[in-house]
Amino acid sequence: MKAVVINQPGNSDVLDIVDRPIPSADATHSVLKIHAFGVHRYEVLTREGGSPDVKFPRVIGVEAVGEIYQTAPDSGLKLGQRVITLNGGFGRDFDGSYEEYALVPNNQLFTVDYDGDWVSLAQYPETFVTAWGSIKSLRLSAGQSMLVRGGTSAVGLAMIKLAKAIGLKVTATTRKPERFSLLTAAGAADVILDKAGQLDTTQMFDGIVDLVGTATANDSLSHVVVGGTCCVVGLLAGEWMMKDFSPFDLQNRYLTDYDSGFVDQAMIDELFQVINAHDITIPISKVFPLTEIVAAHDFVMANPTAGEVIVTND
Ligand SMILES: NC(=O)c1ccc[n+]([C@@H]2O[C@H](COP(=O)([O-])OP(=O)(O)OC[C@H]3O[C@@H](n4cnc5c(N)ncnc54)[C@H](OP(=O)(O)O)[C@@H]3O)[C@@H](O)[C@H]2O)c1
Repeated sequence: MKAVVINQPGNSDVLDIVDRPIPSADATHSVLKIHAFGVHRYEVLTREGGSPDVKFPRVIGVEAVGEIYQTAPDSGLKLGQRVITLNGGFGRDFDGSYEEYALVPNNQLFTVDYDGDWVSLAQYPETFVTAWGSIKSLRLSAGQSMLVRGGTSAVGLAMIKLAKAIGLKVTATTRKPERFSLLTAAGAADVILDKAGQLDTTQMFDGIVDLVGTATANDSLSHVVVGGTCCVVGLLAGEWMMKDFSPFDLQNRYLTDYDSGFVDQAMIDELFQVINAHDITIPISKVFPLTEIVAAHDFVMANPTAGEVIVTND
């Protein structure tokens, strides 16, 4: 099989395509035949050495869609079964999706009720699970208001669509006025400019998901109603730590995060019910074969907006 190995961090030319034996299943791990996966800007950061916990050599890639190729008789999985996997150390602590077959812990393989093709399915795992988990962390009910800060990101676009589908009143932000129409087309009822890290509004929200991250979380919190929640999910601004934060400033508002490692089969089932019922997709900007992984990485960095970049093995 082909695998894309990174031996040391660096530019896209460190993505080295090699031949390897297909791994073998054991009592706790199955072999996933990977049909497709998404490529993300945060994986480019990992390739460059920006994820300190990722040790090289490593096959990176945090998510995949495919079928069970080999599994133990009592794993609860069936040969040929359609599954997705994401996070939980995949592509970080152990080899991930940038290969044709991967060895995955059985408890990180989730079945999916989805009839579309593999490339279409590949838009969902990491991006939509993150979006769905973040929405749920706000504990909102239909009719309440939610702000998606960083709305033009892939996770942001998925979040706008999912939140609207469950009846939330969604507002979204971008730093660029020319992208307002992208957000309204995705379903945002209102759009706010994110101006040098400050929201250009006095509006308050029942819940905010902040994908820009710790750099803007204090400003986001100042737009959350008493009793409401701010969930910090991303780090689009590239900062890990919150500066000038005191818990006493929370003033009976809640601050949390969501990590897509917190996922189980029930959550996947619920997510795909919403996706199927509302026919929710985000744009797929380009599809590459695995042999063009270098071009895929370069494309992701050169085209920062509007959707998913998918690699297919078919
Ligand atoms: N917690 C988890 O489990 C988890 C899982 C997946 C992803 N994430 C995080 O979620 C975030 C979104 O991921 P993604 O793949 O969807 O992102 P993406 O599609 O690559 O996001 C691109 C968007 O980010 C915005 N952006 C870029 N730099 C920015 C900055 N310095 N300040 C504000 N906005 C900036 C731009 O929006 P504008 O130019 O329109 O403003 C751009 O459209 C990432 O930070 C990622 O690490 C977290």
